Amino acid sequence: MSEIYFENDQLRIIDFSPQHLTEKYVAWLNDPVAVKYSEQRHFSHTLASCQNYYEEQSQSDDLFFALEARNNYSDKYRHIGNLGISIDAMNEYADISILIGEKDFWGRGIGLLAIKNLSNYLFKKKRINLISCGTASLNLGMIRLMEKLGMNPCVIFPKRFLINGHWADLVQGFLLNPEDGKNSKKIKQQQ
Ligand SMILES: CC(C)(COP(=O)(O)OP(=O)(O)OC[C@H]1O[C@@H](n2cnc3c(N)ncnc32)[C@H](O)[C@@H]1OP(=O)(O)O)[C@@H](O)C(=O)NCCC(=O)NCCS
Repeated sequence: MSEIYFENDQLRIIDFSPQHLTEKYVAWLNDPVAVKYSEQRHFSHTLASCQNYYEEQSQSDDLFFALEARNNYSDKYRHIGNLGISIDAMNEYADISILIGEKDFWGRGIGLLAIKNLSNYLFKKKRINLISCGTASLNLGMIRLMEKLGMNPCVIFPKRFLINGHWADLVQGFLLNPEDGKNSKKIKQQQ
């Protein structure tokens, strides 16, 4: 059983593992609505390409989680999305990306819950100092989510993306570790 990073009566966050490599997951990545604002919209995905991605992730510093919704009647869990974290360990920096592939779970607070809890995990357990998220300026849901997390989303580059014939800006937000570098391995070594 893989580690559980967060669990309540709505959501469980666990490591992405081979059991999550399914046609359902591939279909999310090929769904033009789900990936409308993601760079995945440019590519066609297969089980083999998803498996390659998973293997690359497993061999890197990066983290890859499965989001699972709990069915309170059956106590069973349903894979509804993924959350990836690119880690730049040398600079104690992490960038989070999220895809809730099951669209009937959008707007239920799951994105907020997942990023909030994994940010705390990164700050406390992984000694990350800075966390960022980025999206296209047309992605109002992700921008609102960043606002609610206190990430202060701002336009970084104008006209960074071309989406269905419309330019969109790159909006990024960030969170700094509230411990302000006190947990940093490197800063400690230099003192
Ligand atoms: C973007 C995404 C992660 C948001 O997650 P979510 O679980 O649906 O968002 P939440 O329910 O936590 O909502 C957070 C806030 O955003 C608002 N929101 C969510 N979707 C919205 C939308 N489409 N338009 C406007 N506001 C939206 C919610 O109402 C909530 O704000 P409120 O409490 O003030 O009402 C999810 O919709 C998703 O995975 N989309 C597809 C992939 C994607 O765009 N990923 C983003 C990275 S490029």
